[in-house]
Amino acid sequence: MQGKNLLLVISGSIAAYKSLLLIRLLRQSGATVHAVLTAGGARFVTREALAGLTGQRVHDDLWAAEAEIGHIRLARLPDAVVVAPASADLLAKMAHGLADDLASTILLATRAPILVAPAMNPAMWQHPATQANMALLRARGVAVVGPGEGAMAEPESGPGRLAEAEEMHAAIAALLAPAGPLTGRHALVTSGPTHEPIDPVRYIANRSSGKQGHAIAAALAALGARVTLVSGPVTQPTPKGVMLRPVETARDMLAACEAALPADVFVAAAAVADWRVASEATQKLKKTPGAAAPTLTMALNPDILATLSKHTQRPRLVVGFAAETETVVQHALDKRQRKGCDWIVANDVSGDVMGGDLNTIHLISAEGVEDWPRLPKQDVAARLAARIAKEFS
Ligand code: C5P
Repeated sequence: MQGKNLLLVISGSIAAYKSLLLIRLLRQSGATVHAVLTAGGARFVTREALAGLTGQRVHDDLWAAEAEIGHIRLARLPDAVVVAPASADLLAKMAHGLADDLASTILLATRAPILVAPAMNPAMWQHPATQANMALLRARGVAVVGPGEGAMAEPESGPGRLAEAEEMHAAIAALLAPAGPLTGRHALVTSGPTHEPIDPVRYIANRSSGKQGHAIAAALAALGARVTLVSGPVTQPTPKGVMLRPVETARDMLAACEAALPADVFVAAAAVADWRVASEATQKLKKTPGAAAPTLTMALNPDILATLSKHTQRPRLVVGFAAETETVVQHALDKRQRKGCDWIVANDVSGDVMGGDLNTIHLISAEGVEDWPRLPKQDVAARLAARIAKEFS
């Protein structure tokens, strides 16, 4: 979402706190967020909290906004308008074209795509009036995320819970994503190294830069996929429209991948550490003069690729990587069998691949082996994304 401008309308609901979390996620993915508060919204979150989190002036009054920036300009600036939480009242105003406060006026004046995240009592959600309003809004192309079902603030349960911040973020990414052959598909990509702690200040890592994994995430997003990128510590910028889940250890990476399921395709491009230090020291290991150097006992890390390949929610297409320095294709064929994935992207790392910009690939699938020419990592990513899109076409 790098460089995107979003207008977030917050109307009255106890769940409005989730929109504060959403602002953090949106800013982490590079978006600028302008907040508009309705009178109801202001009962649940403060202008100050919104100003602090967005880093922007908060608008809550039609006439004050008119003097400062103008409601038409506010409506025309954003790449998308997000209404979260969307109350029954605001949805009704939207459906019927009412414009009696700043939020409803912007919603009538904007030409940007709109996403609503309804939040209300189950009886209000299920009421034929709300359902008819939702049908009208959907028919006009308004995107909807949630509501979820479950316990409500009142001792009642049912449909009406505001979607979680991560779900709203993903829905916004999908709204902003260019339509393409992977529109409607969820791609899960791992990237970068893992850091396996020795003690609070030391860790074991590897030379993976995350260039290839991040380029694959970007290429899949460019074809319209909703992308979750689970990455170890890297200096690569987060690609546009991609949901980043930063992790450190292999175990964190596995947990983040499982939490992101279901997915249509999984691409395991991370250089996951095979081992971790069996018992991480809780205090910094001390260098005692005259004492012997410590011995590190290692434990086996979970294999994320193998775990997802036999998961009950196994993505339809599972793609692993094999970095090899010799007998590249044979090793990759064995790895495909062993890990239970569909494809292996075998790369010859005998040269300067780790951290470099070029990659020599052999794509191993049930159909056989494809040898690709030596290509920049961006081109490898585009070619792989195109092959994935073909698989889903
Ligand atoms: O076993 P090896 O590390 O060579 O396999 C490489 C492939 O397996 C890559 O796709 C890598 O992301 C994945 N992998 C994993 N979890 C591990 C080790 C490797 O997902 N613990």
